[in-house]
Amino acid sequence: MTEIIPIGSDHAGYALKARLKQELTSLGYQPDDLGTDGPGSVDYPDFAHQVAKRVSEGADARGILLCGTGLGMAYAANRHSGVRAAVAWSAEIAGLAREHNDANILVLPARFVSEDEAVLILRRWLDTPFAGGRHLRRVAKIEWEPT
Ligand code: RB5
Repeated sequence: MTEIIPIGSDHAGYALKARLKQELTSLGYQPDDLGTDGPGSVDYPDFAHQVAKRVSEGADARGILLCGTGLGMAYAANRHSGVRAAVAWSAEIAGLAREHNDANILVLPARFVSEDEAVLILRRWLDTPFAGGRHLRRVAKIEWEPT
C-alpha cells in the first residue's frame, strides 16, 4: 500500500516543499500537503502541530516539516507525545537521526540547504532503518513524565 506522508511548511519552506513533494511522488510515496499553500508569511507552529498530531496519534508513521532554520518547526513538533522531530542539514545527520534516534519527523532548514542537498537528506531519512539495540533504551528514555 502507498505510504501517505504528511508534509508541512511555512513560507520559508514553501518552495523546497514543492520539490520534496515531487521527489516523494517519484519514489512511490503519497505526500499529503497540510500547508502552507503559498509564499505569503504564516506562523510555522500552525503547520508543525498539524503534521505532529498525525504522527503522534498514529494516523501516519512519519512526517516532514520545513521552515527557514528548521528550529521552530522542531520545537513545536517535539511538544507532541511520541514525536521525535530531527533537524537534518546533511544526509549523514538524517541517517543518524533514523539509526540512533528513530526520528519520525524530518525537519529541513530550507534556508540553509540546496534543493539537491534536501533531496539527498530526504532519501537517506526515508531509507535508513532504526538500529534498535542500545538505542532502543535511550529513545525510550526521551519520553518524560513529571513526578
Ligand atoms: C520565518 O522567517 C522563520 O522564522 C521560520 O521559517 C523559521 O526559521 C523559524 O524557526
